[in-house]
Amino acid sequence: MRTMTLQAPSGACKIALGESIGNLKGYCGGADKIVAITDSNVRRLHGEKLGGMESIAMEPGEAHKTLETAEAIYARLLELEADRSSFIVGVGGGIVCDVAGFVASTYMRGVRFGFVPTTLLAQVDASVGGKNGINFRGYKNIIGTIRQPEFCICDFSLLGTLPKEELRNGFAEAVKTAAIGDASLFSFLEGNWDSAFALQRAAIEKVVHDSLQVKMRIVSADEGEKGQRMKLNFGHTIGHAIEKAAGIPHGEAISIGMVAAANLSRKKAGLDAKEAQGLEKLLKEIGLPTHLGAKKAEVLEAIRKDKKRYGAKIRMILLERIGSARMADVGLGEMEGVVNDMC
Ligand SMILES: NC(=O)c1ccc[n+]([C@@H]2O[C@H](COP(=O)([O-])OP(=O)(O)OC[C@H]3O[C@@H](n4cnc5c(N)ncnc54)[C@H](O)[C@@H]3O)[C@@H](O)[C@H]2O)c1
Ligand SMILES: [Zn+2]
Repeated sequence: MRTMTLQAPSGACKIALGESIGNLKGYCGGADKIVAITDSNVRRLHGEKLGGMESIAMEPGEAHKTLETAEAIYARLLELEADRSSFIVGVGGGIVCDVAGFVASTYMRGVRFGFVPTTLLAQVDASVGGKNGINFRGYKNIIGTIRQPEFCICDFSLLGTLPKEELRNGFAEAVKTAAIGDASLFSFLEGNWDSAFALQRAAIEKVVHDSLQVKMRIVSADEGEKGQRMKLNFGHTIGHAIEKAAGIPHGEAISIGMVAAANLSRKKAGLDAKEAQGLEKLLKEIGLPTHLGAKKAEVLEAIRKDKKRYGAKIRMILLERIGSARMADVGLGEMEGVVNDMC
């Protein structure tokens, strides 16, 4: 087992890589009552590993990352007589971690909490960084808090039950993280993504560890996303628009978004053509899409509505080279060209 600590203004988070979910109680520091928040899939597959702990299972899926779900959980917490000395653990993918972190940050003005992420996406990205949000009126993560979980236990054995499509979504975020902040992780992925995809222990541990190091470095410098942290949105401006317009999974959408942003980076940020091609090749090999089939007009409309738009410009993250990113404001006209090239 390896541990790392993220220090951020809102608190510190201990990340335990390769720890077993079986040791979860030991991380909750003598709390009187521990309540796990999970979803029905994770409860069915891994519920017995919670060792008889009280648990609340939400319905899985983005459509349930809502105030209504949070409300139902508050009600259940009251029934369970959870109080300020209780401890909440989110056990699940990025959705469960977001909802559990939000509920724990608001119930009784905040109770202690930690995470056991069970998807690769949650292990490399969503569970670390302290952002806890829910969706509202069609806007993603528009209501939320910033507060660090006390711990994050990455038990790689939990990934064994994950459908391949979900694993692929996690790889899209790992590729993103490598592209913006770690060229050597990027090379490792080029040579070894298949071992990691087969959940070979040393390979998956390296992918999670190195991705988290980049995220920790960025979050500890800019927890509130005033500058640096926006780099984590590489591929996401266009990706979110595609996700919304084409209704495809997040990882697939940001894969297309990253290729589009890399092509724009060649024109505007000096990214070498070979590196842009290398990114596209890696994503293809992993089995992620790199081009948009249809819905061009809908994607453009979604980009127009994007909250990162300032006047006529849209804020994007571009690559200077693999391992180094910067922000740029891109005009809507230029953006239309990017979306045309994507098809
Ligand atoms: N807070 C942040 O900083 C942050 C960062 C990135 C993403 N996110 C959020 O994360 C969410 C996406 O997370 P996700 O991709 O983990 O999705 P998810 O939580 O929906 O999980 C994906 C699916 O896998 C199932 N599942 C979870 N663990 C499993 C396991 N071990 N075996 C089998 N099935 C399992 C879930 O029930 C679900 O159906 C989005 O809502 C996104 O906004 C948040
Ligand atoms: Zn993402």
